[in-house]
Amino acid sequence: MGARIRIAPSILSADFARLGEEVRAIESAGAELVHVDVMDNHYVPNLTIGPLVCQAIRPHVAIPLDVHLMVEPVDALIPLFAAAGADIITFHPEASRHVDRTLGMIRECGCRAGLAFNPATPLFWLDHLMDRLDLVLIMSVNPGFGGQSFLPASLAKLAEARMRIDQHAAGGGQPIWLQVDGGVKADNIGRIAAAGADTFVAGSAVFGAPDEDGGYGGILRRLRRQALER
Ligand code: DX5
Ligand code: ZN
Repeated sequence: MGARIRIAPSILSADFARLGEEVRAIESAGAELVHVDVMDNHYVPNLTIGPLVCQAIRPHVAIPLDVHLMVEPVDALIPLFAAAGADIITFHPEASRHVDRTLGMIRECGCRAGLAFNPATPLFWLDHLMDRLDLVLIMSVNPGFGGQSFLPASLAKLAEARMRIDQHAAGGGQPIWLQVDGGVKADNIGRIAAAGADTFVAGSAVFGAPDEDGGYGGILRRLRRQALER
């Protein structure tokens, strides 16, 4: 039926001592994107990856690096991540003083621009921005940590975002990906896909379930199959 499914394993749950190997393994298992969770111990209570790590993994894969900035302020980091090889840069509207300007900066740096919505962040931030966006990210956990449980209220929010994206496309607007992030597993991805997501971040579900040889083909096939069966 032509449904498009993109899986974006989050390297937050990968083995950081073997990151090059880990991203190569998800690419050869068929992942469409590498999701890079950037946390600053300010916007979120955790500290993770900077542009140097992005730059280090870039030569290991050809698939896009999908950088999720959980940082405040945002703007100064955009050119650094773009230079480090980011293809998509997503940020949280509460973390930027001038959201429209930040979206413009991301595109000026040659990247695709995404806006991320925390569980309690209303979708009205989209009201005047649809033309500026390539991706909408609905957080299905509170940002900061991998391995949390999917918040069921995210399903209705995904459906609402899907409606707005489809309306925008029907009016001649550019395509916008609808990404979900947090607690995505093989046993709920069908319902999440049915709510309208087309791009699925999965950290612990992927890196916590390696094949016997350390690859990730099995879990990626399972996630994709369940998403399509919705
Ligand atoms: C949470 C991060 C997520 C997280 C997902 O703040 O943005 O990308 O790593 O991890 P899981 O899939 O384990 O919930
Ligand atoms: Zn993320």
